[in-house]
Amino acid sequence: MKILVINGPNLNMLGIREPDIYGRKTYADLLEFCRERAAKNGDETEFYQSNHEGDLVDRIQQALGAADAILINPGAYTHTSVAILDAVKAVSLPTVEVHLSDPDSREEFRHVSFIRLACAATFSGKGFESYGEALDFLSALNKHEGKR
Ligand code: DQA
Repeated sequence: MKILVINGPNLNMLGIREPDIYGRKTYADLLEFCRERAAKNGDETEFYQSNHEGDLVDRIQQALGAADAILINPGAYTHTSVAILDAVKAVSLPTVEVHLSDPDSREEFRHVSFIRLACAATFSGKGFESYGEALDFLSALNKHEGKR
């Protein structure tokens, strides 16, 4: 299956940005990690990162008919964006929410997640492994659907 991996604002700054929270590995390292993990599952990945809400909405819309599932870390837009939630609802592809940190145990303003309302599952607090578990989940979901 083809999985579209979307990362929102500031995730391109991985490795530089607040390393105590997000680690010292870079965005390029993250893509390599995801590519390898998906390949192990027999899946293909495509990546998109943007710091702009509307661009993220555009990319989600373009996934319609082009991707089988979406893995999304909307960054700070997790906590603010109804537009990104609506875009995910509009394309109606299996989608999972991912975070490197655990927003639910950080500042109170991070406890709200709009995107979660349209997601089959949330994976957070495990660094890159949050993405790994999300890729495994989507792969298993797809194999299960295929058998039905
Ligand atoms: C994040 C958590 C968000 O609260 C934050 O705004 C981010 C990254 C994470 O991956 O832990 O930019 O989504």
